[in-house]
Amino acid sequence: MCGIVGYIGDRPVADILIDGLHQLEYRGYDSAGIAVKCEDKLHIYKAEGKLDNLSSVLMQHKSEYQNATMGIGHIRWATHGAPTVVNAHPHTCNCGNLAIVHNGIIENYKELREKLEKQGAIFRTQTDTETVAHLIAYKYAETKDLTKAVQLATKEIEGAYALCVIHNEEKDKIVATKRNAPLLVGIGEGEYFVASDVPAIIKYTKKAVYLEDNQIVTLTKNNIVLTDECGQELFLKIETLPWEPVALSKMGYKHFMLKEIHEQPDVIRNILVGKIHTSEEPIILNEVKLTNDTLKNLNRIQIIACGTSLHAAMIGKYIIENFCGIAVDVEASSEYIYRKNVTDSKTLVIGVSQSGETADTLTAIKQAKAKGSHILIITNRPDSAMAREADSLIPVSAGIEVSVAATKSYVAQLVSFYLLAMYMAEIKGSLDESVLTSLKSDLTKIPQKIEQMLSHKEQIQSCARLYANTKDFIYIARGINYPTALEGALKLKEISYINATGYPAGELKHGPIAMLDESMPVLSILMKGSVYEKLLSNSEEAKARNARMIALTNSKDEKLKDLFEYIIEVPDVQELLSPIIAIVPLQLIAYYIAEYLGKDVDQPRNLAKSVTVE
Ligand code: AGP
Repeated sequence: MCGIVGYIGDRPVADILIDGLHQLEYRGYDSAGIAVKCEDKLHIYKAEGKLDNLSSVLMQHKSEYQNATMGIGHIRWATHGAPTVVNAHPHTCNCGNLAIVHNGIIENYKELREKLEKQGAIFRTQTDTETVAHLIAYKYAETKDLTKAVQLATKEIEGAYALCVIHNEEKDKIVATKRNAPLLVGIGEGEYFVASDVPAIIKYTKKAVYLEDNQIVTLTKNNIVLTDECGQELFLKIETLPWEPVALSKMGYKHFMLKEIHEQPDVIRNILVGKIHTSEEPIILNEVKLTNDTLKNLNRIQIIACGTSLHAAMIGKYIIENFCGIAVDVEASSEYIYRKNVTDSKTLVIGVSQSGETADTLTAIKQAKAKGSHILIITNRPDSAMAREADSLIPVSAGIEVSVAATKSYVAQLVSFYLLAMYMAEIKGSLDESVLTSLKSDLTKIPQKIEQMLSHKEQIQSCARLYANTKDFIYIARGINYPTALEGALKLKEISYINATGYPAGELKHGPIAMLDESMPVLSILMKGSVYEKLLSNSEEAKARNARMIALTNSKDEKLKDLFEYIIEVPDVQELLSPIIAIVPLQLIAYYIAEYLGKDVDQPRNLAKSVTVE
């Protein structure tokens, strides 16, 4: 989604803004722009499409801004108004003295726009953001104080926002504020940075202040002042950012996605450190703040998530119900929030999110919290808004994930669910000791098995080439790997734009089988275990309709050779742990097909890494 960068100091600001915006590119965007102040004049440059287009525009105007050392920049993911130059941020007021960048959505923008038009504001864009530019400009005209103007304007704004504002009449100053959207200030030596996410500034400083909702920060070259919504000055809580700049490098891989797929074995190892000592010892999960008594008496869990995290949640449901005998509901956050759900103080609500900022999930979590539920958050961003809502927080520690298509964060979420389910089962005494011991022991062996698979990735690359020109793709599975089929299909859709769908194989005959013919690839996730024979029969049914059958399997069954035109072999693993192994080849198939088709693997069209609008 949108990204914000701001800078005030001594360095050439345009370079810092463009560099910072590049680091936020992974979030997904369709236009970009910067505003810089130079010799008491604001200069604004914008472009449609990628940042390279903006850089070309900047090249043509270098002489205008080369001495500028303060400014704000933005990448926009269009919500209100098409992704055009006019609608790109920064936006200005009528006199052009004020420039603003904004992440989020102003919900009452229509009412505000009507009111401002009556006051004489002339709107040039279709965006919600422009209303804020005019509103702050009017408040500035009354107060002649940018901080005060922002403070007054935000009282009239409804919705979610991170805002960064500069004004030509103010001595060099950036004012920024936020509500329900992330924003942080990086602190350097005689310089400050503002950003909507860490990667934009980590190269320059590791010291930062995370703004809380409704706080306003005023930055000059040598000073930072933080105030609340009433103008009361606040103490600065300076944190050290736990990121390394190296995490943002491709490390020799062609794409971040491929790098992140290869990081999965180490991600799993890191998560298990300190949690499983030996397979005979209990799981250590101090992050869970529920008492043993509460855990023993829990009779309902709800898991809320979106997209890939939703698929991890579905596997979470399967294993929690299997290991603990507790009923679990899983729901897409966007559905949960707009119905009369029956969450209460006796329900444990688990929110799952890579980014920890997904608006739908954040809203759902807040609703559940208001009803008194214990909120357990599983996220890759312990510094996120969702993490701040948590009563219990399980950080999945996958490291920053740059590719829009989630891979290592998914596997990390799965492993976190396994730990949680085993931890609860141990407390409840709901699973045989021998089963628990074998699960723990086998879980620790999975990283090595994934490495083994990755060392033979050529077989998957060849498979991808064979099917790359298909228009449609079907994934089938049963039981614990049904969500794996959904996730495999989502990966392919996201980055190759092939129409891919996952089905529970038993459902094929209830409709989807009508689509099968000799042009349709059907990939069957055929892992040994309780549903193996049933899935084999479903695969036979598909084969009988001439579908191009592919197996992803850990079985050495000879008869598979007659049934499938391509067999992807994966290392042997017990059924209950098989989703962690089975997803890796599916990530690779999606990757190699998209790469073969020449798609923008890391930044697929229309998608954003962190979806901060409902
Ligand atoms: C994953 O590949 C997708 N980009 C998307 O479905 C994502 O999982 C979804 O938007 C939820 O994001 P979150 O995990 O950050 O909440």
